[in-house]
Amino acid sequence: MNTQLELGENTSQTQLSFLELWQQIKEDWIAHGRDWTKPGFRAVAVHRFGVWRMSLEPKLIRAPFSILYRMLYRKVRNNYGIELPYTVQLGRRVIIEHQGGIVIHGYSSIGDDSIIRQGVTLGNRYLDRPLDAPKLGKSVNVGAGAKIFGNVTIGDGANIGANAVVLCDVPTKATAVGIPARIINSSKFD
Ligand SMILES: CC(C)(COP(=O)(O)OP(=O)(O)OC[C@H]1O[C@@H](n2cnc3c(N)ncnc32)[C@H](O)[C@@H]1OP(=O)(O)O)[C@@H](O)C(=O)NCCC(=O)NCCS
Repeated sequence: MNTQLELGENTSQTQLSFLELWQQIKEDWIAHGRDWTKPGFRAVAVHRFGVWRMSLEPKLIRAPFSILYRMLYRKVRNNYGIELPYTVQLGRRVIIEHQGGIVIHGYSSIGDDSIIRQGVTLGNRYLDRPLDAPKLGKSVNVGAGAKIFGNVTIGDGANIGANAVVLCDVPTKATAVGIPARIINSSKFD
């Protein structure tokens, strides 16, 4: 995966006031069980901060916040094994359950109320197409160790089984398991 995307120029996210930043982080804290020590909460909070500081003008005022963001980003990556660059289009109340081996491509999007677990990768499939990245809808439940590669779309409410390798689109509310992932009939999430 192209690590330069971590701090790339995909900055088209909505501009946030400081109050909105605070409200989003509070929502994330509640979604993470009101536990500010959880690595997943910290990773999401650093992401929110990274997005927010991009709206600061002029660049000179932004500079110290950018330095702080990069320090925090690296701390989260190196200490918790969670790579969540600010360029990811991250929905509200996204939960990062547990930590370790979580790699999210800078051009991916993750919809509101989705859950990402330990060992999950959202990445490009081919080296010669570095900008291809998955798009997850709302309330997508990604099992531990799952990998989702390339320019694929995962529908709202879909379930991705633990350790699945997803290489194609997954319809709304469908459950995908296995390598490569196949859609199964699941009655548990209707
Ligand atoms: C994908 C999942 C949601 C499916 O649950 P479900 O709808 O109850 O599915 P079932 O248990 O009825 O299994 C249906 C079929 O899929 C298979 N299957 C289920 N999960 C699978 C997985 N992760 N990988 C491969 N096959 C799987 C079952 O063996 C079964 O196959 P069969 O029909 O040939 O017997 C669940 O198995 C799963 O992987 N959850 C993720 C949990 C997780 O990551 N927990 C981490 C907590 S820290």
